[in-house]
Amino acid sequence: MGARAGLSRIRPHGLTGTHRFTGTIAIAMSQMHLVHMFFHSPITHTALSWASEDDDQLEGMGDFGYWQHIAKTLEKGRFDAAFFADTPAASDQYKNGPETPMTYGVVWPTHDPMPLVAAMAAATDNLGIGVTLSVNGTPPYLAHRRIATLDYLSKGRVGWNVVTGHMRAEHRAIGQALMDHDERYDFADEFMDVCYALWDSFAPGALPMDKKSGILAVPEMIARIDHDGKYFRCQAVSSTLPSPQGGRPVIFQAGSSGRGMQFALKHADAIFAIQPHLEAMTAFRKRFDDGARSAGREPVGTLFGLQYVIGSTDDEAQKRLERLRERVPLDAGLSRLSGPLGIDCSTLDPDQPLDELPTQASRGMMEALSKMGSDKGKKLTVREAAIQMGMTVGLPQIVGSPERIADELEHYWRESGALGFNLSAPTKPGMIEEFVDQVVPILQKRGLVRREYEGTTLRDNLHG
Ligand SMILES: Cc1cc2nc3c(=O)[nH]c(=O)nc-3n(C[C@H](O)[C@H](O)[C@H](O)COP(=O)(O)O)c2cc1C
Repeated sequence: MGARAGLSRIRPHGLTGTHRFTGTIAIAMSQMHLVHMFFHSPITHTALSWASEDDDQLEGMGDFGYWQHIAKTLEKGRFDAAFFADTPAASDQYKNGPETPMTYGVVWPTHDPMPLVAAMAAATDNLGIGVTLSVNGTPPYLAHRRIATLDYLSKGRVGWNVVTGHMRAEHRAIGQALMDHDERYDFADEFMDVCYALWDSFAPGALPMDKKSGILAVPEMIARIDHDGKYFRCQAVSSTLPSPQGGRPVIFQAGSSGRGMQFALKHADAIFAIQPHLEAMTAFRKRFDDGARSAGREPVGTLFGLQYVIGSTDDEAQKRLERLRERVPLDAGLSRLSGPLGIDCSTLDPDQPLDELPTQASRGMMEALSKMGSDKGKKLTVREAAIQMGMTVGLPQIVGSPERIADELEHYWRESGALGFNLSAPTKPGMIEEFVDQVVPILQKRGLVRREYEGTTLRDNLHG
């Protein structure tokens, strides 16, 4: 319980340039922070969820109203943010092609989430919107411009999940070779240096925006960037106005290998992680806290992924879960397992144990997935892991009545020392409405989640 008390103050990191980020980041550990995960795709974490009678996301891909309804629902539940994961190409690792994901709609189609950030921000006032943009394919100057524009337009409610692109298909699609695991992070470090230089380029008073005199900006007070590095060159002034949230948007990161942790601790305001059970979450949090201390910064809050399945009773929730699980084809699960592991799982015996193997793809996911079942002293076979992957992509599940979901969230939060959770609903939007109408009031009554937003920016709310 000790982990829940107190306030961590965090110094911003990775800052370069003359005009530095001045925001103070403080993580309030007294309340649970909730984020809700999506893909701009027919599914999120449950294969074939689009085929369920309870799910509207396939239709929602052609309907701003679907996403705006979700945004308003999350805001009503006082969520910190909606969050869009993104892999911009269908995984082709399984059987060396994209056919299986395409057949079953497993994160195919995969539409660009950026327009949804604008649509959802336009429908809300306080909800943050996290969005994934890979450091591959978009030069840092243009990536900064896209994120900064949305951040400005939303009055400071954007979070950027900076990813290094662990899936082979993304690199093939844009005609780039997949760099080795650790070098991808070196590339991303330099990418961020360019973004920081742009974010930090405004001196106070650089923007009089004075209609009377007709002076909008004082160019001498806005630094010109002249970056000439190993991977990037950028000579420019920022094309966008400064971020309304203390100079820059919130940065999320989800790498959890040794090099991934180093990158996350250098850049992230909050960390996303998937760990298969409570014991692994607690160990992860401790490893990151120790890493932060060794790197000379205070701990960074972690949001652990969890999938919830709600019913009016525990029994009804279990039945819902079974119906969803029965629908997951083994092939779809194997294809979902193959992408992050960087291994063609059709070459493995389905009845062999899923052991940790060397990979150039996601080492964090490899470690987390090979540990599924270890809390029960069990090692999952490839077949069991594939079905679980098809159902949750390795997220632990909480299943039951609203009271049980609230109990479990409280338990995970108190015991793991997490900042909060990045939640996933197998069917949408109905289950999100059930969560907001039935679980959030229980958590509010227990004083575990906010009743009102602390501020107007994502940074204010995540760290306020
Ligand atoms: C909760 C969570 C969300 C993630 N979202 C994305 C994503 O949207 N797109 C992506 O390419 N990678 C995503 N990743 C992968 C990580 O960003 C990272 O690249 C990958 O795990 C490899 O890093 P590692 O080997 O250091 O763990 C996610 C990982 C986690 C745990």
